[in-house]
Amino acid sequence: MRTQVVIVGAGPAGLLLSHLLGLEGIDSVLLERQTAEYVQARIRAGILEAGTVELLRDVGLGGRLDVEGMEHRGIHLQWPENRHHVDFVDLIGRSVTVYGQTEVTKDLMAAREKAGRPAYYSAADVTLHDVTGKPFVTFVDDSGAARRIDADVVVGCDGFHGPSRASIPAPQVWERTYPFAWLGVLADVAPSTDELIYAWHPDGFAMHSMRSPRVSRFYLQVDPDEDIARWSDDRIWTALSERLGVAGWTLRTGPITEKSVLPMRSFVATPMRYGNLYLAGDAAHIVPPTGAKGLNLAVADVSLLASALTASLRGDDELAAAYSETALRRVWRCTHFSWWMTSMLHRHGDDFDAQLQLSQLRRTVTSTAAATELADNYAGLPL
Ligand code: FAD
Ligand code: DHB
Repeated sequence: MRTQVVIVGAGPAGLLLSHLLGLEGIDSVLLERQTAEYVQARIRAGILEAGTVELLRDVGLGGRLDVEGMEHRGIHLQWPENRHHVDFVDLIGRSVTVYGQTEVTKDLMAAREKAGRPAYYSAADVTLHDVTGKPFVTFVDDSGAARRIDADVVVGCDGFHGPSRASIPAPQVWERTYPFAWLGVLADVAPSTDELIYAWHPDGFAMHSMRSPRVSRFYLQVDPDEDIARWSDDRIWTALSERLGVAGWTLRTGPITEKSVLPMRSFVATPMRYGNLYLAGDAAHIVPPTGAKGLNLAVADVSLLASALTASLRGDDELAAAYSETALRRVWRCTHFSWWMTSMLHRHGDDFDAQLQLSQLRRTVTSTAAATELADNYAGLPL
């Protein structure tokens, strides 16, 4: 079989890239290790930047997003006895939208099916070959048959653990691990807040997010090797009430439907192009989730890459030649912002560090310049 672009990985990056290329008349085939149901059910990111929302609307994916997405003007920043609203709309004229990665994935899968774009789910042993010459990818399909797809270009959208990055010999890598993790919790209960709360607390960071008017999402800072069995539902609600509490406010509780521990790291690998292989999204970079950049950064990469590949496949390689360098500018901006939010809000170090964090939080809510810097990065720089 032959196609123009083989896309490895059908997460948001791979699915969106195949959609954007399809709109330009470029053929692609998606290869995904998991089943479609598994990919669709993975609970991950929840916040879309203004530019991500605009892009999804522009490419015909705004239907359900416009009905079910919840537009937020900003976020609440909190530390003991203080809760302050940072209003992005007042500061920079842009908002963010709560719309889960599960929903973005569902919309992208529906669009792919409607357009009849080919995808192989449950693809095993996906292997990239000759990426600097005439590339092809081999795999075993869900019936056990060995297959080969030849292409002009291969794009690795296969996340942090996928095989694509390993096809680049000696990439340069920058990495930071953090001495904490998040316990993520999904609960069938109406949110107890209008907009997200990011809370610094002596016991550790806590966040109140949401997925819909009836479903809340929470995160608690825990140890990186935390045993989830030690977190009963009661213990989770007690910790959330304590860390998110301010006078005159109560946390509504309800049945917990999912809980998991998420590791935290910053990671950047370059180049993002090697011959006829390109990387996009988590395959090339990981940010810690504080600041909600992971999914949005994957969208920014593929938006850039779709234009670059379209031009390149029509004979103009200029954008494609610049892809890695151009993409990395935004990657490093988001890497810095995510590191900064993470460092400001999580309990680590000693009491000196705590005083620096509290000073930074006070500065962020009292200085328009400081608040604007947060708003600009959180709501997302232009694509
Ligand atoms: P992915 O979504 O990881 O998609 C990669 C795809 O490649 C997957 O479907 C995978 O199955 C497939 N794949 C892997 N190996 C192979 C192979 N060998 N062959 C074929 N296919 C393969 N971001 C936030 O902003 N907020 C959050 O709260 C948040 N929570 C997260 C929780 C978890 C557990 C994780 C892992 C990430 C979270 N993120 C969060 C980050 C965000 O979800 C990612 O940045 C986003 O999913 C990136 O999209 P992607 O398409 O690049 O990668
Ligand atoms: C969510 C995750 C984040 O990392 C974040 O900064 C905000 C919201 C969420 O899952 O809702």
